[in-house]
Amino acid sequence: MRPPALIVVVVLLLHQSCSTSAKPDHHCPASSCGNIRNISYPFRLTSDPKNCGDPRHILSCENNQTVLQLYGGRYYVRLIDYSNNTIRVVDPGVVKDNHPFIPRYLLDFNNFSSIDPYYYPYDSRTKVIFVNCEKPMNSRYHFNISACVKDDGMYSGSKRYRYAVFTESAVDLGDLCQVEQISLPSSSYLYGDQDLRNISCTELVWDFELSWRENGAYIKH
Ligand SMILES: *[C@@H]1O[C@H](CO)[C@@H](O)[C@H](O)[C@H]1NC(C)=O
Ligand SMILES: *[C@@H]1O[C@H](CO)[C@@H](O)[C@H](O)[C@H]1NC(C)=O
Ligand SMILES: *[C@@H]1O[C@H](CO)[C@@H](O)[C@H](O)[C@H]1NC(C)=O
Ligand SMILES: *[C@@H]1O[C@H](CO)[C@@H](O)[C@H](O)[C@H]1NC(C)=O
Ligand SMILES: *[C@@H]1O[C@H](CO)[C@@H](O)[C@H](O)[C@H]1NC(C)=O
Ligand SMILES: *[C@@H]1O[C@H](CO)[C@@H](O)[C@H](O)[C@H]1NC(C)=O
Repeated sequence: MRPPALIVVVVLLLHQSCSTSAKPDHHCPASSCGNIRNISYPFRLTSDPKNCGDPRHILSCENNQTVLQLYGGRYYVRLIDYSNNTIRVVDPGVVKDNHPFIPRYLLDFNNFSSIDPYYYPYDSRTKVIFVNCEKPMNSRYHFNISACVKDDGMYSGSKRYRYAVFTESAVDLGDLCQVEQISLPSSSYLYGDQDLRNISCTELVWDFELSWRENGAYIKH
């Protein structure tokens, strides 16, 4: 006896909807946006088909920039390394020629929780703290960024000295310094063993790495 045609159709439809929307597709062609040429699983762009990538790892392409939404921040993607699950991003505030050269978003370890799609892959507690000071600070930890920071007129009348400080704690910044922003440092500056005093602020690396988790909504297969 043949099964009624309707049942066959329903079974086929169910099968198809399972394989197109319930499971992520690891075999979608890679997408590209600006310099990021290889956007593939677990990532996809907002403009890619919905079955591609993991929904927790959707990137957008804006004015030729690949953008990662991380909590309340929107970071430019510089590199995706699929061999060790790391994505290198930069705050749009410290991109060369963007003024006032202060990160747009506050970000440190406290923003990340163990169930989030991204985590900070280093055990260092070093942050980069952007300060402005009344007096010149001469320590190897106070990196002079005055040449990159555009005077926004906020402190007109009193000269301010701008620094980026790579440190674990804001305690030793000095009374004469005011914290303007806190962000995560590039892995190059985690262990405080380089003297940055004579490097220009445009030579400094401002991007930082994050790693992604794939063990969330979907099981890898
Ligand atoms: C976007 O970036 C790519 C790679 O850098 C470049 O080849 C292309 O010309 C850019 N397109 C626009 C509209 O800027
Ligand atoms: C990180 O957490 C701080 C404090 O809760 C918050 O103000 C900031 O907006 C968070 N950063 C991002 C990028 O969402
Ligand atoms: C892009 O990434 C995928 C996934 O890791 C990898 O299999 C593929 O070889 C990469 N392609 C290029 C051109 O790098
Ligand atoms: C991932 O690999 C890249 C290239 O080998 C390396 O530069 C980077 O430090 C690695 N990141 C982590 C978190 O291991
Ligand atoms: C910091 O850099 C600015 C701009 O290059 C320079 O004028 C200033 O003397 C420097 N200040 C200190 C304390 O090094
Ligand atoms: C920075 O450069 C100045 C002038 O070239 C030099 O006198 C000074 O010793 C250098 N400081 C460090 C820490 O390298």
